[in-house]
Amino acid sequence: MKKTILTGIRPTGNLHFGHYFGATRNWVKLQDEYECFFEIADVQALTDNFQNPEKVRKNVYELTLDLLSVGIDPKKAHLFIQSKIPEIAELTVFYSNLVTMARLYRNPTVKTEIAQKKALFGNDGESVTYGFVGYPVSQAADITALGGTLVPVGEDQLPLIEQCREIVRKFNSIYGVTLQEPEHLLSPTPRIKGLDGKEKMGKSLGNALYLNDSKEVVKEKIMNAVTDPSKIKKDDPANPDICMVYYYHKLINNPNLETVCKECKNGTRGCVACKKELIDKIEEFLTPIREKRKYYEEHFDEVKEILEEGSNEARNRAKETMKKVKASMKIDY
Ligand code: TRP
Repeated sequence: MKKTILTGIRPTGNLHFGHYFGATRNWVKLQDEYECFFEIADVQALTDNFQNPEKVRKNVYELTLDLLSVGIDPKKAHLFIQSKIPEIAELTVFYSNLVTMARLYRNPTVKTEIAQKKALFGNDGESVTYGFVGYPVSQAADITALGGTLVPVGEDQLPLIEQCREIVRKFNSIYGVTLQEPEHLLSPTPRIKGLDGKEKMGKSLGNALYLNDSKEVVKEKIMNAVTDPSKIKKDDPANPDICMVYYYHKLINNPNLETVCKECKNGTRGCVACKKELIDKIEEFLTPIREKRKYYEEHFDEVKEILEEGSNEARNRAKETMKKVKASMKIDY
């Protein structure tokens, strides 16, 4: 039997190169091998954007357009909206008895995020909500309600998968074996660096290149990308290993990579020319993505239908799980 993949993404912004090369490029491959459920995690996004429902709603559609434009294929995979599956919320309530507050606060992902919030808002954590601290429980419900046995994620999400496995074990030990423990499937690409050379590309870091950036914006961002600071003149030799332009030549799979590297090292390639070549390569890469996006923007009814169908399928799956869960918990009245 084909394994079932479940993974999700929060609708808080558009897809950038970090998401694409770090995660969604791999999702596109996985849909050929597995039954895939890709979740637009709007309920999870609301845990720290509850004051901004408009932003989350807008990004549900933006992200759907992005995902379809990079090749998520509704004929192969189910693309669905988390809030359309009330069974996930129901399961979250049942799971919440199986998790202690101490364990939630100890979850490294949650811990880091709370520390970031404190640093950002300068308070003692008074504004950390029950919903936010509990989002790993809701994520465990996402995975198991859909019968996900393989969960493609990046390293930062591993503590959440581990917590899901713990919940499943506890459930099975108390109520009888009902659920399957999921396994993570680590992304083959480690995190993608930002245009400024920081270890991670991120929306909040302001160093991201977006899949829906216009030609002008791509040009401006690449022209300002960080290069080897020791290279002052056009014909100074430089070190490509500390240059973001070279890093993106590699990422985008420029067939001319060896020449780029050699010419950079021996000083026969100026940064401006090198950036221009990269811009051309990025344009080649983005052109089919932009075309697909345009198609879906112009056929928005189709997009809504894709989400409706994906969500119906996900809901059917979740209903089956809930039948078993309720029987095990003796609440199948
Ligand atoms: N927490 C994930 C993120 O921030 C998104 C997510 C929601 C998810 N539900 C999931 C990931 C279920 C894997 C499985 O990127």
